[in-house]
Amino acid sequence: MQILVYTQDAKSYVQALHELAPKAEIHGATTLEEAEPHLAEAEVLLAWGMPAAALARMPRLRWVQWLGAGVDLVVAHMPQDVVLTRVVGAFSTVMSEHVFAYLLALRRGVFEMRELQEHHTWHRVIGASLRGQRLGVAGLGSIGSEVARLGRAFGMEVWGLSRSGRGSEICDRHFLPADMRTFAAGVDALVLVLPKTTETTGIVDKDVLLGMREGSILVNVGRGNAIVERDLAEALRRGRPAMAQLDVFEREPLPDDSPLWDLPNCYISAHCSGPSEPDLVRTFVAENIRRYLAGEPLAGVVDRSQGY
Ligand code: GLV
Repeated sequence: MQILVYTQDAKSYVQALHELAPKAEIHGATTLEEAEPHLAEAEVLLAWGMPAAALARMPRLRWVQWLGAGVDLVVAHMPQDVVLTRVVGAFSTVMSEHVFAYLLALRRGVFEMRELQEHHTWHRVIGASLRGQRLGVAGLGSIGSEVARLGRAFGMEVWGLSRSGRGSEICDRHFLPADMRTFAAGVDALVLVLPKTTETTGIVDKDVLLGMREGSILVNVGRGNAIVERDLAEALRRGRPAMAQLDVFEREPLPDDSPLWDLPNCYISAHCSGPSEPDLVRTFVAENIRRYLAGEPLAGVVDRSQGY
């Protein structure tokens, strides 16, 4: 059996794979050029960021373990007889910490304090509390559920939105995507953890944004397609939401001429809240390799009809 690993950290995966699958022939690649000689023979592909077109040249492929949570780049290109799995659970801790790092910093006035320090100014910044505020989590998979759990720990009321009703038991109130406007209008912090699908594209548009509460914070750590960026720039100028923290964008890297860069109430990070690092995904991937070799059902199998 041949295994191909395509990612910037291929080397570290290849070493680990030799122990997990001692009988397999394992190849690592960081570019398509390096992968090319192994496409025809590979039965298993572990990949992150591989151009989807290459899949059509992999006739022996049986299983693809995507080394991230979102499979939007490849799902439409995956042959029907190939099982596609994504990483589930591994990013919940770091991504929810990223969300609360910003929610706390923005509510407590951390960025203002730092700015005052830069000017040697002794001035008391009186921050607000998350306690008693209402948190809205759109997307209640493993990451969204952890955001909800931490919200509760901070004394927040938790509203949730998911297409299937999944996760409704962990929310004080649950909404379906059709009720996005009411959902967004009722929360103090709106956190998007949605996968990229046709249904989520543009779900946060002008109406949703301008309907948000005074002083509200919008955070997006899912995919950039969920927000109509042109509408967001305009809405942020009007203070609805009051602040935004964006880790994902319609186009990445965010183009240099995007108005979002210069808006004082927009806080940008470069798609790094849940990085596909070997240390984070290793345990999940190792267990799936074990299952594959033992002929057991795999974890994180993607439902093609839903796209995640
Ligand atoms: C990152 O965006 C991922 O999908 O894992």
